[in-house]
Amino acid sequence: MTKRVAIIGAGPSGLAQLRAFQSAAEKGAEDVELTCFEKQSDWGGQWNYTWQTGLDENGEPVHSSMYRYLWSNGPKECLEFADYSFEEHFGKPIASYPPRAVLWDYIKGRVEKANVRRFIRFNCPVRDVSHDDASGVFTVTVHDHNTDTVTSSTFDHVIVASGHFSTPNKPEFDGFTDFNGRVLHAHDFRDALEFAGKDLLLIGSSYSAEDIGSQCYKYGARSITTSYRTAPMGFEWPDNWEEKPLLERVSGNTAYFIDGTRKRVDAIILCTGYLHHFPFLPDSLRLKTNNRLWPLDLYQGVVWEDNPQMFYLGMQDQWYTFNMFDAQAWFVRDVILGRISLPEKAEMQRDSAEWRAREEALDDDEAMIRFQGDYVHRLIEQTDYPSFDIEGVNQTFLAWEQHKHDGIMTFRDRSYRSLMTGTQAPPHHTRWLDAMDDSLEAFLNDPREDRPASRKARATSSSKSA
Ligand SMILES: Cc1cc2nc3c(=O)[nH]c(=O)nc-3n(C[C@H](O)[C@H](O)[C@H](O)COP(=O)(O)OP(=O)(O)OC[C@H]3O[C@@H](n4cnc5c(N)ncnc54)[C@H](O)[C@@H]3O)c2cc1C
Ligand SMILES: NC(=O)c1ccc[n+]([C@@H]2O[C@H](COP(=O)([O-])OP(=O)(O)OC[C@H]3O[C@@H](n4cnc5c(N)ncnc54)[C@H](OP(=O)(O)O)[C@@H]3O)[C@@H](O)[C@H]2O)c1
Repeated sequence: MTKRVAIIGAGPSGLAQLRAFQSAAEKGAEDVELTCFEKQSDWGGQWNYTWQTGLDENGEPVHSSMYRYLWSNGPKECLEFADYSFEEHFGKPIASYPPRAVLWDYIKGRVEKANVRRFIRFNCPVRDVSHDDASGVFTVTVHDHNTDTVTSSTFDHVIVASGHFSTPNKPEFDGFTDFNGRVLHAHDFRDALEFAGKDLLLIGSSYSAEDIGSQCYKYGARSITTSYRTAPMGFEWPDNWEEKPLLERVSGNTAYFIDGTRKRVDAIILCTGYLHHFPFLPDSLRLKTNNRLWPLDLYQGVVWEDNPQMFYLGMQDQWYTFNMFDAQAWFVRDVILGRISLPEKAEMQRDSAEWRAREEALDDDEAMIRFQGDYVHRLIEQTDYPSFDIEGVNQTFLAWEQHKHDGIMTFRDRSYRSLMTGTQAPPHHTRWLDAMDDSLEAFLNDPREDRPASRKARATSSSKSA
């Protein structure tokens, strides 16, 4: 009988799963019946930007935490799909740190080519998943907002690809209730221009704090203060940016820190990360973890050990992203197709515990990058996903880290070599700090090439004569 597979979420992970099955079908694999349920009205997950915050037009929690002017925070060469290069998509080499719209376009290009949109039911949040041990099938209950109906259907496999950077982790600090300004979580941050001319406090010392602070600096905040719990980020910040230890309380507009210092601020942004949140899953199927490289209970990072008919994609903390989701999706596909057999539960748990022990011993970024690279390598060795130079990706991540330390406001001006095509990326036409327009058109079109030669010549000669 044809296997029925439910995929929850059409972000990069869910789309990787659709592409993985399509790739197998293309090569003659047996048919599976695919249904992907997507809460939003379009695909792309986090990369599908919305101006909305809070609840969406259907009363559902807004999924994306992305904001205007967001550019990739790592080199695109580290996330490139091994079966669909940037060069294939854009028809030319492009710079290494694209803005959100460009990456969204790239994600969409591969799945449009694969013609898998027909498997997706949009505006369909999954409300509930249950498993019947006797029949071995899952019942998935979905609210279809297109028809405002709630229906249930049965599946042999469920793949959870609903992401984990959407439900904010919101610590409370004394005095927040009476603070004379805005307090928001990074999930609800949308436009740095709102904070131009303001003194801004960001809590947290990871990617959101670094990047939202950088956006606000770029678009004219008066000052940035970042407050850390464990360790400062330690970059060389611009003059109007300082790092302080943890916030203790606020009163009026004054923030008090645990080292006894204080600062007047206009707004506070909690860059305190996200929760793995699966309100549609019962305890027996629900992954419970913090944001880390090796969550337990997932064999090879994807198989739910308590019920190996169920899978999770993309639940790890992420150095590797798109090509790791691919590696996971190809592996899950091959388990479902019976090409990879799973060991007994005890063996799966032993294997996971070994990776977890290794994860717990990692003591710096380089070790973490290599750990995740090893994981991706292990997965792709077991399937027909095109193998690629993982050590090259690791090296690119390490170069990126060095470039951030060389200049936190200039690292996005660097470029790297594709590990898929070997092509060196061209430098971007505009320095990131000066590139205020983050549209796809502005990124792809070099304004210097748009100018007719005669005008260019005139501009040159007039500036010479001035
Ligand atoms: C602010 C921010 C910036 C980032 N920047 C980068 C970057 O520069 N480079 C990079 O590589 N990565 C970045 N990431 C990491 C990002 O998480 C991954 O790139 C990628 O989007 C993860 O894909 P995913 O499919 O696992 O999850 P998501 O992209 O979160 O997609 C999950 C999908 O599941 C859907 N969904 C959720 N619940 C349900 C439900 N109940 N029913 C149906 N559908 C549901 C959602 O609507 C969504 O479409 C960033 C993340 C954030 C938050
Ligand atoms: N493209 C981009 O530029 C971009 C921008 C933003 C985010 N992202 C992505 O988004 C994902 C999430 O990043 P993130 O920075 O939001 O989350 P994160 O990496 O999980 O970091 C969470 C931060 O919050 C701090 N924190 C948590 N609870 C706290 C508390 N109670 N008090 C004080 N601090 C607390 C943590 O401090 P400790 O260190 O003490 O635990 C940590 O610094 C990452 O994958 C990142 O790459 C990308």
